[in-house]
This record gives sequence, C-alpha cells and structure tokens, in this order.
Amino acid sequence: MRIDLVTIFPPLVAGAFEQSIIKRARDRGIVEIHVNDLREYATDRHRTVDDYPYGGGAGMVMKPEPWFRAVEHLREQGHPGPCVLLTPQGRRLDQALVRRLAAEDRLIILCGRYEGVDERVREHLADIEVSIGDYVLSGGEPAAVVLTDAVVRLQPGALGSSESTVEESFSEGLLEYPQYTRPPEFRGWRVPDVLLSGDHGAVERWRREQQQHRTRRRRPDLLQEQGDVSEATS
Ligand code: ADE
Repeated sequence: MRIDLVTIFPPLVAGAFEQSIIKRARDRGIVEIHVNDLREYATDRHRTVDDYPYGGGAGMVMKPEPWFRAVEHLREQGHPGPCVLLTPQGRRLDQALVRRLAAEDRLIILCGRYEGVDERVREHLADIEVSIGDYVLSGGEPAAVVLTDAVVRLQPGALGSSESTVEESFSEGLLEYPQYTRPPEFRGWRVPDVLLSGDHGAVERWRREQQQHRTRRRRPDLLQEQGDVSEATS
C-alpha cells in the first residue's frame, strides 16, 4: 500500500512514521508513506497557501489551487486511490471505516487547518471527509497520524502474531479484557487467581466475561451496535 499525506507542516507528521510498528512496516516494504509539502504546490513566489475569506470574517482560508495541484500531481504518478480530507466536519472514524480504507492500494490524505479550507476542495477534490472525533484540533495532522497508524496496522504482515490478537478482539465489538504481568502481587494488589490457575478454559471464560462486563459498563453503545448488526443480518 502507498499513502501520500499533504500538509503545510511535514515535520509534524513525519516523525510519527519513523518509530515502532509503522517504521517496521515501511522497512519491510509493506507500506510506502510519502509526506508532501503543500507549499511546494503554491503558484506564487511567497508560496502562499491561504487568503482572506470572501464575505469577511476572522481567520484565513486555505486556497484551492495548491490542493488541486498537489493531488493532480500525485494522481499523474499513477495514484488512483481515494482522497481523504481530514476535518471535524467529516464522517467519524471507526474500525469499520479504517478497514475499508486499509483495503485500498493507495490513499491520499489531506491535512486541512482548522480555520478552513476552500469549499471547492471539499466538494470537488476530496472523495471522503473524515473526523477522528468530536473535538477540534488545530489541524488535520494529528488526525492523519491516527488514521495512518490504524490503516497500516491492518496491512498483512504489519503486526506480529501477538499484536494482531488485539485488533481481533476489537473487531468483535468488545473492549479488551484486563491484562497483568509479573509480579503476582504489587503493593498489595493481587493478580486474579484464575490467571495463575493454569486452567486455560477458565482463563478464556474469565476474559470473555470481563470483556462483556467492561463493554457494558463503559461502552454500552458498542453492544447496541453489535445487536444492530446481528438483527440486520439475521
Ligand atoms: N481537524 C481538526 N479537528 C479534526 C478532527 N477532530 N478530526 C479530523 N481532522 C480535524
């Protein structure tokens, strides 16, 4: 898979792709990530990427031309994948959308700034607008890191077998069960006896119960969604 990001702050995202699972996936050739500087696609000497809003008002608006030039340039290089605009107005990211985007061969991710992007970018360039949650970031860059991480870890071979089980359990729509490691007692807090029992069946049942209990208590909306899915498919 190839992912191209377009941003006015390349260093804000580039570092995140040079560590950990993403770095390993890049090193293994599983994913190619390119960080493109929007200013390189500006048309004037000052590399201007924003301008005053028509109709007045506070703040600046990002001009359409650099975005179109950047995306058209990437597509000329044989880059047919969908173009994702990160914005708090977008569709909220969840694991189902991550899976859909992870199945693409190529993605172009545009990091807008919160002050605003000319509406024509939204209407005529972006294929999908995505928000990572109902809060406002100063720009799409942290959201692009979140989206890229979630997509890369789903690429075949990106995760070791011990890492991949975590995604599997979330895919079932439940939160993770509690995890413990040594020591068996720390400051008087003991690891649940069942985990030390060596009874694999009992451990399995306990984990499942914990997942259900935790999901019911913290995220009942996930159980509701599961119900919706099974009703829709039964
Ligand atoms: N840009 C600013 N806030 C954002 C958010 N919540 N999601 C995606 N992009 C954003």
